[in-house]
Amino acid sequence: MKKIVILGATGSIGTSTLDIIRRFPDQFQVVGLTAKSSDEKLEFLIKQFHPSLVALQDERSATNLRKRLSHSGTEVLSGEKGILEVARHSEADLVISAIVGAAGLLPTLSAIQAKKLVAIANKEPLVMAGEIIQREAALNGVSILPIDSEHSAIFQVLNGEEHRTIKKIILTASGGPLLRFSKEMKENVSPEEALAHPNWEMGPKISIDSATLMNKGLEIIEAKWLFDLPAKKIDVVIHPQSIIHSMVEFVDRSVVAQLGLPDMRTPISYVLHYPHRAAISLPSLDLTEVGTLTFEKPDTDAFPLLKTAYAALEGGGTLPAVLNAANEEAVTAFLEKRISFGMINHVIQQTLEAHIPQVTKTLDDVLEADRWARLEGKRWIKQSPVC
Ligand SMILES: NC(=O)c1ccc[n+]([C@@H]2O[C@H](COP(=O)([O-])OP(=O)(O)OC[C@H]3O[C@@H](n4cnc5c(N)ncnc54)[C@H](OP(=O)(O)O)[C@@H]3O)[C@@H](O)[C@H]2O)c1
Repeated sequence: MKKIVILGATGSIGTSTLDIIRRFPDQFQVVGLTAKSSDEKLEFLIKQFHPSLVALQDERSATNLRKRLSHSGTEVLSGEKGILEVARHSEADLVISAIVGAAGLLPTLSAIQAKKLVAIANKEPLVMAGEIIQREAALNGVSILPIDSEHSAIFQVLNGEEHRTIKKIILTASGGPLLRFSKEMKENVSPEEALAHPNWEMGPKISIDSATLMNKGLEIIEAKWLFDLPAKKIDVVIHPQSIIHSMVEFVDRSVVAQLGLPDMRTPISYVLHYPHRAAISLPSLDLTEVGTLTFEKPDTDAFPLLKTAYAALEGGGTLPAVLNAANEEAVTAFLEKRISFGMINHVIQQTLEAHIPQVTKTLDDVLEADRWARLEGKRWIKQSPVC
């Protein structure tokens, strides 16, 4: 029995993880779950999986849940402290990091410091503090497994290969729902239009990141830290069908790809069963049905945030944390209809321009950059014309 903790259990990745776990009742036991405020969803999961420990970030939601669960054998913790405690659950063998955004940084580090094997979907902490996370993982002798479909593809392709033989990795990007929109058309799309991803069903934040291509920008930084590669060895290609999940070019010019239908349950099953593979009943990829696979260079004039993310990666220090925080603030403001789609880029660029980059020696340096960028981002959001 592998004992599993899921941070962000009520979200899209959390739900897909539980879907796989449910299929293998004799292999996995859920021992801990967390969420922000979805107490009813968490209650439903507790009744199904009987974890010993759960936590809700929101105190009031936790109080509501405790009242309803008084004799269940599940302890309900609350606040950031509660989530950190679940992340380092004494019984856990594997922690699935699937909170959205910077809120997942301290829980992911907490799991690593408790010497847990960690599978990361939550890319933002790697963007903000990849060096610190990898340093902590090395100090604690812990492995990090990728869940993101592109990084899972690279991880699978690199299995058994020597790092020095990598010429470059090629991350594929669907281009999102606005790929064929002109700059003018994109300016004022509604959250509903920007959320309508053609291939993947995901939470709202990553869906908007896919529409701006910032998701790919975050992923190149994620790839740097997961695979120890410089920016110049990380390429991006637009592949609207989302069938090739990513590729590696080796020094002998072989290019090896991982393919599959766009369904996060495949990379999730891979980390749950790692280092083995297990049969799961999902539809098979039929290439004759797909017919055509196409590839394009990303248009960085139409999607400037990809170029911005490369610059932040190359600049290093606090820049990736500032990029991430400004993006989180701008995406939240867009989803709440406080700024237009076009202003997401503006808020991020202005915040980065106002920032004096610092080196990030400690976690506090990262947290301070994050705090500063949120205030600065909010200032630009306030000055933006109301949409
Ligand atoms: N969805 C995908 O297909 C996909 C693919 C690759 C990578 N990822 C990455 O995986 C992460 C999760 O994405 P998602 O799409 O699953 O997001 P999501 O559906 O929005 O779910 C987020 C989860 O995190 C919890 N949460 C949100 N804010 C929190 C906070 N401040 N403190 C504690 N918990 C918090 C939510 O709880 P509540 O339900 O209570 O709000 C929920 O359980 C993201 O970093 C994303 O980039 C996602």
